Amino acid sequence: MRNTPDISGHYTSGDLLRRLESRLRDDGADAARPTFEALAPYDHFHGRGIEATEELVQDLQVSPSDHILDVGSGIGGPARLFAQRFQCRVTGIDLTAEFCEVARHLTAQLGLTERNVFEQGDALAMPFGDAVFDGAYTMNVSMNIADKRAFFAEIHRVLKLGAWFRLAEIAQGPGGEPNYPTPWARTGASSFLATPAETCANLEASGFVIESQRDTAEAALAYAARSRAVVEAGGQPPHRAVSLVHGALAEEAIANTGHALKEGRTVPIELACRKVSESDG
Ligand SMILES: C[S@@+](CC[C@H](N)C(=O)[O-])C[C@H]1O[C@@H](n2cnc3c(N)ncnc32)[C@H](O)[C@@H]1O
Repeated sequence: MRNTPDISGHYTSGDLLRRLESRLRDDGADAARPTFEALAPYDHFHGRGIEATEELVQDLQVSPSDHILDVGSGIGGPARLFAQRFQCRVTGIDLTAEFCEVARHLTAQLGLTERNVFEQGDALAMPFGDAVFDGAYTMNVSMNIADKRAFFAEIHRVLKLGAWFRLAEIAQGPGGEPNYPTPWARTGASSFLATPAETCANLEASGFVIESQRDTAEAALAYAARSRAVVEAGGQPPHRAVSLVHGALAEEAIANTGHALKEGRTVPIELACRKVSESDG
């Protein structure tokens, strides 16, 4: 099943770069030459922001000769962190053309163009050959994908034998449907949450072996409490990607995310997997 255009419509504003530059200036940063640190509150567009990206990379062995794939790369914070940390090549693919344009612009500003490439495209039909990547990750993208088996099988196809795959997603919890809008969908029509058990079954059916699984709900609640304390003390929340991307919609989307987490409607999970055979299940 192909995704409908309203997925990229949900993420597209047409003036994202202008608004990002304005936010950077308000933060006291140089918008023409932003640093990694200045961008970090904005360019890791998933729960807990750069904190979650740092956790994803912390026990990975990546060498400078590796070529890594970021599936649903957004405006590129995680891909740039990989390229900078490991000196490796990272290709990002994302459905949203505006995100790819902003990702390329920021990557050029940070001098990473040789190692970071961003392609506009659908994760369900990627323009890459078989068995070309040494590792892949996807952070908070699968909630927009109806056909999970096709999604995981396509990632499996482009990975080399023995390659690692890391997945972070918002899974369906036992407490019922979340209320919308959320950061990933305006309505339930473009949200496709799977339970953790369904995600594991889909990964295994697509040929992956699951090496570890983690429920990060407590970490997310603790992060939200720390953010609230910073805001109550007059500061800015550490993670500002949702307010940057969604503008007026953000407040409601963030509130719905918080309620869904507390009520067990959603469960953020992280899985570490490996491709151990050529067969896709
Ligand atoms: C919540 S954002 C996460 C972005 C990025 N992974 C990050 O963590 O910073 C979800 C992203 O998934 C992308 N996406 C959704 N469906 C996709 C698809 N079928 N193929 C490629 N990208 C997709 C969206 O365009 C959006 O950039």
